[in-house]
Amino acid sequence: INSFNKTNVNMIYIANWKMYGNLADIKSLKNVINLSNQKKFKKSKIIYCPPFTLLDVFIKKTKNSKIIIGAQNCHFTNSYGAFTGSINSKMIKNIGAKYVILGHSECRQAGDTNTTINKKIISALSEKLNIIFCIGETLDEKKKGNTKKILKKQISIGLSKVKKNKNILIAYEPRWAIGTGITPRLQDLEKTILEIKKICKKMPNVYSNLKILYGGSVNNENSSQIVKIPFIQGLLIGKASLNSKKFIDIIKKTII
Ligand code: PGA
Repeated sequence: INSFNKTNVNMIYIANWKMYGNLADIKSLKNVINLSNQKKFKKSKIIYCPPFTLLDVFIKKTKNSKIIIGAQNCHFTNSYGAFTGSINSKMIKNIGAKYVILGHSECRQAGDTNTTINKKIISALSEKLNIIFCIGETLDEKKKGNTKKILKKQISIGLSKVKKNKNILIAYEPRWAIGTGITPRLQDLEKTILEIKKICKKMPNVYSNLKILYGGSVNNENSSQIVKIPFIQGLLIGKASLNSKKFIDIIKKTII
């Protein structure tokens, strides 16, 4: 554990724009593109996940940069069908996005279960999309001491039938930390990350190439402490990513 060497880590920064953003907001990408082209950024990754309506313009705008684009959700089937209001993984792939966020706490709250999330993951993997798989306990589950149990369930069901992990990032996002300004105590976070690692170790297909990120109220003040925690290889950033200055500030303070 202690031999984990952060200097070898390529940091991953994910901007989750949720249900924010219009065409005018694309302007703010310019500074982030400039940053991503800098030499010291060579090994790291920036992934933008704008709403579906902006995927195409984001992809075009970032074409000659190192920024990668992802979607925020997909339907559980990858075939076309009569599902009004839904987007499948084939469509996401077709537009040129490379990632998709699945299992986000806000989608779980809106009805996604571990089983539907698993179907979505299998569907997205079959289209060779990369997955940002979100897990995390609620405040109530945490208070009852059930964090480990919940994470284990989310991981084992969510990632069942995954044959080979070439492209899954696990983002630990405690629900009580999302959008609240509250983050876990560093020692608690370190413990939970190790638990996630341990859970995944029992799933060799997942464990190989395992990458764990943290998300939930990341800002330019707490980020540099968070990335010091062993095995955290990136950040999933909601609110602070909407403001390119703040997003850049987080990246600059944490790039390794
Ligand atoms: P937040 O959101 O940074 O606004 O807490 C993170 C997320 O929901 O992915």
